[in-house]
Amino acid sequence: MSEYPYADRFPVVRGLPQEGRPADDILAELTAMATEEDAFWETGKVSGTMYSGDHAHYAFLTEAFSRFAHSSALQRDLCPSATKFEGEIIAMVLDLMHASAVEDSEPAGMMTMGGTGSILHALLAYRDDARARRGITAPNLVKAETGHPAFNKGAHMFGIELRTVPVDPATTTVDPAVMAEEIDENTIALVGSAGNYPYGTIDPIADLGALALERGVGLHVDACLGGFILPFGEELGYDIPPFDFRVPGVTTISADTHKYGYAFKGSSTLVFRDKRLRNAQYFHLVDWSGGKYMSPGMEGSRSVGLLAATWAAMVRLGREGYRTHAAAIFATSAAMMDVVRSHPELRLMGSPTFCFSFASDAFDIYHVADFMKPLGWRFNGQQYPNAIHMAVTRPQTWPGVVDAFAADLADAVEYARAQHAAGKQPQLGAIYGGVPGGAPGALASQVEEFIVMMMDSLLDTWQSLPPQR
Ligand SMILES: Cc1ncc(COP(=O)(O)O)c(C=O)c1O
Repeated sequence: MSEYPYADRFPVVRGLPQEGRPADDILAELTAMATEEDAFWETGKVSGTMYSGDHAHYAFLTEAFSRFAHSSALQRDLCPSATKFEGEIIAMVLDLMHASAVEDSEPAGMMTMGGTGSILHALLAYRDDARARRGITAPNLVKAETGHPAFNKGAHMFGIELRTVPVDPATTTVDPAVMAEEIDENTIALVGSAGNYPYGTIDPIADLGALALERGVGLHVDACLGGFILPFGEELGYDIPPFDFRVPGVTTISADTHKYGYAFKGSSTLVFRDKRLRNAQYFHLVDWSGGKYMSPGMEGSRSVGLLAATWAAMVRLGREGYRTHAAAIFATSAAMMDVVRSHPELRLMGSPTFCFSFASDAFDIYHVADFMKPLGWRFNGQQYPNAIHMAVTRPQTWPGVVDAFAADLADAVEYARAQHAAGKQPQLGAIYGGVPGGAPGALASQVEEFIVMMMDSLLDTWQSLPPQR
């Protein structure tokens, strides 16, 4: 096994080749890598990431993508279809988010390249709108600790102070009263999640909406993860409180088409209660030598292929398709949570639905992850406290996966008990969940150094490889 992927089997490209390679040869190399990598998640043991897992669906999306892969969404005279795809995707998401409940403003939307992109655009819109309308020059944003790091990233990029509040450990959701204490005259918006990434739980959006209205600030609902599955859970009778535009005070919602929307990676949506807020982040330059420039978001050129494939995914599935997939996922998640509950040593974090996280007071839960990793299970890890989560996707609904989870978890609990009794430390903690909870502050700089090293290794490893034979 090489330290650089595939270096032992395929040539490492270290500069632009002098001559091109035959297409068949290239495709054979790509197929070998893709087939092996797909085999990893096709077991159904991988949390999140592969939301559809259906190769026939992927082939259909690829067909749709291929028709427009080469077209640029920035050149609408050349590809007017982009206006149709983007507009109709926005229309479908506004419909899903109950924009029809809005009476006092004009709802609108936009597409971005991913959940982070949607969150960044929301923050930019709030910042610039608050500056223009309220004269705020030192803006702040209030989010719960469970809010996605994309909010930290956006705050960092756009010069917004981020105020982070803890969640109630019992529910893993934010207490609006705690959030209220952080609001002042420079607050541009609050953030609630539906559901949050660590625990899959839903913040009390109705209460946050009331608070936002009372204090005259925005409320962004991060439904990147839940936006395309929770509405169908509600229709199916699961206990899903409204989190969309039916809730007064909700001003923006991010919902990822590339997660439970079953589209390709590289697409997400951001919808606004009021078009005025969306337009606050528009950019144009009218006096440039290259001509008048405008782009309705941060991106410049984008492939129309992604718009076409996203549109195709949505109109192919329709409400019925999404509801059918959601029914299987909610049922599977409930069955997997029952398995967790059957072990007194394990504790579910809050009351989740389609994405659940569990911890243990009897041992470090990363002993469980250690045991299950070689069996092919790939959870996502949390810290403070240590926990592991499973975002249930379609591959877990396949036959045999819940049974395998039950059998492997039972053995893992035995293993974890024994490791704990022997005073052993888990191996996976640092990788899955960062520094285990309670690490001394002195370690923080080392962790940061390690993380920079990891990021470097993603980009630079090819430089340090020995010459190939
Ligand atoms: C709740 C939530 N928000 C935002 C994001 C960021 O999405 P992306 O990775 O597409 O940028 C995620 C990703 O998992 C998420 O779960």
